[in-house]
Amino acid sequence: MSTVIRNGTIVTADLTYRADVLVEGGVIAAIGPGLGGDEVLDASGCYVMPGGIDPHTHLEMPFMGTYSADDFESGTRAALAGGTTMVVDFALPAPGQGLLDALAMWHNKSGRASCDYSYHMAVTWWGEQVFDEMAAVVGQGITSFKHFMAYKGALMVNDDELYASFRRCADLGALAMVHAENGDVVAELSARLLAEGNRGPEAHAYSRPPQVEGEATNRAIMIADMAGVPLYVVHTSCEEAHEAIRRARMQGKRVWGEPLIQHLTLDEGEYFHPDWDHAARRVMSPPFRGKSHQDSLWAGLQSGSLSVVATDHCAFTTEQKRFGINDFTKIPNGTGGLEDRMPMLWTHGVGTGRLTMNEFVAVTSTNIAKILNCYPKKGAVLVGADADLVVWDPEKTKVISAGSQQSEIDYNVFEGQVVKGLPRYTMTRGQVAVMDGEIRTQEGHGRFVAREARPAVNRALSAWKELTAPRPVVRSGLPASGV
Ligand code: URP
Ligand code: ZN
Ligand code: ZN
Ligand code: ZN
Repeated sequence: MSTVIRNGTIVTADLTYRADVLVEGGVIAAIGPGLGGDEVLDASGCYVMPGGIDPHTHLEMPFMGTYSADDFESGTRAALAGGTTMVVDFALPAPGQGLLDALAMWHNKSGRASCDYSYHMAVTWWGEQVFDEMAAVVGQGITSFKHFMAYKGALMVNDDELYASFRRCADLGALAMVHAENGDVVAELSARLLAEGNRGPEAHAYSRPPQVEGEATNRAIMIADMAGVPLYVVHTSCEEAHEAIRRARMQGKRVWGEPLIQHLTLDEGEYFHPDWDHAARRVMSPPFRGKSHQDSLWAGLQSGSLSVVATDHCAFTTEQKRFGINDFTKIPNGTGGLEDRMPMLWTHGVGTGRLTMNEFVAVTSTNIAKILNCYPKKGAVLVGADADLVVWDPEKTKVISAGSQQSEIDYNVFEGQVVKGLPRYTMTRGQVAVMDGEIRTQEGHGRFVAREARPAVNRALSAWKELTAPRPVVRSGLPASGV
């Protein structure tokens, strides 16, 4: 059975043109005028774009004494409702747990996904087993490794471990990723705030100022440079971190930054809300920042110094947030956003003139597909690519509300925001999962996307490292020893 998307305008990262799209067997079979098929989807007045890819989710993740509330079923349902057709989740070994063990756990959970998915592997401790299993993980199609420079005493790794792991990533042709915050300083600031009686969610923001993120970002960039590995900095939230990334890129380093839709559109004022629940629901790391930081992130997307917009979807219910009622350090860190990323970015980016439609596609889909080496299977409207498509209606509006969202949690950090620009249809490998507002997701439809190691950037970096590696000077005769 074939489906044709008719009368739409195709928008990719570099082109805008009118054509129909024929989908057969889960892939794009033809693109051109006047195509026919068994089923017709009318895209009049709409843009036909690659489905969104959210490279940063935490579905059913064990964290801070609990599990994030959205699993692969509700999480991918939320994704598809908002035009996202692939998620990349973090497989997270507990300290001491093997990587392959953690991977098996993640494969178990993701069987419920209704759109395609991949994983990054987190390196939460260091030892021979981790070193060895990293190769096996790459062999199974997981070619990106995330390191936490924060969460001291839990997930954090130190600089020597970072360097060792980055070197291993370089040797395996993988991508190094970091959560960049100085975990030692955050721990000190948090303890001091608590001792001084600052126990509410506003203290979370005070405990993680932009400087700690800027410092860690610079440090990670230096370590990646020494190791000869490309670096992806997750949830870049402030000018200090953006400045480090911008400078590194201008120096020719292969570094990418990922702002979140939350940091682009919500600010630190949320933590000073008189309602404890309101403030705690927005506790995440790094915290929301001030207006000047938001302007910096938008400018980064416009100029190309920042590459990808993600969500870090890690949703906790109000009840879970209340674990930290008397101690802000116990509030589970994380916010949701999977369903809202694309409409919010369209509304505040394309709708305001800060982004072109093509830039929107680049930062929501194509750039990350290239960085993670799954392009053009994903992130493209090309013959042979997976039919992960969103038919985007720029006139469709809604008010974001927890009452009508797909996520399992009882609130939405964007509650009350009016968005203009929503999916008319979302298609995952040819299956129509969203049909004009009606959710038709199929649990278990999602497939794991294996990725190959050694993309071009890694090959270029290792060629350069090899060319410039230290070599001993060959000398004809050594002077006589003084002894
Ligand atoms: O607060 C956050 N970001 N929670 C999810 C885990 C992480 O640090 O990415
Ligand atoms: Zn993080
Ligand atoms: Zn508010
Ligand atoms: Zn995260």
